[in-house]
Amino acid sequence: MENAIDIKISRRNLLKVGAASATAMTASPMSAGHGAGAAHGLSAAVTLQVNGKTHEMNLDVRTTLLDALREHLRMTGTKKGCDHGQCGACTVLLDGRRVNACLTLAVMHDGQEVTTIEGLGTPAALHPLQAAFVKHDGYQCGYCTPGQICSAVGMLDEVARGMPSHVSGTLSEKPLLSPEEIRERMSGNICRCGAYSNILEAIEEVAESKA
Ligand code: FES
Ligand code: FES
Repeated sequence: MENAIDIKISRRNLLKVGAASATAMTASPMSAGHGAGAAHGLSAAVTLQVNGKTHEMNLDVRTTLLDALREHLRMTGTKKGCDHGQCGACTVLLDGRRVNACLTLAVMHDGQEVTTIEGLGTPAALHPLQAAFVKHDGYQCGYCTPGQICSAVGMLDEVARGMPSHVSGTLSEKPLLSPEEIRERMSGNICRCGAYSNILEAIEEVAESKA
């Protein structure tokens, strides 16, 4: 029989789930020697606010935020490239901050707000960055584009809040958004089509309009 444990998850009680899992693995002779399979069936209720809409789900605790979006909510705008935190294709905004959705578990974000590419604009009313990517041809195949745009939205907000990057000359003054700064700050988003110069132009245009 599977360990059908259904627990309301918050960041606080995630530890309780871990403890429950450890207890179940210890108590069940069937789990001996089965490695990761011993946690099979451990699920949790999680509520995500995605693009302003509430979604209540019951998820295997190992479900990444990316798979929760794509496989459970069928929101496929967020892309899976490497699934290992190396390409940035899965970038979304979590309470306004950019994250790689493949590197974090959905149950860790109970009650938090997720913004995906679908929530930034509409075909009739594009987000300024979406419009700039179209205008400057900031893509070829387009697979990296949702992540690039979500990342750029988060990046411009980081700059507005005065967060320095590795190439900022000073930690105390608001960073100037030079091409070098933009390249550094967007370096977590890989484009296999090499559309970098056009991506840079698109972001520069929006950054200048905000300056
Ligand atoms: Fe998440 Fe590549 S799919 S970083
Ligand atoms: Fe093809 Fe970036 S446009 S990977």
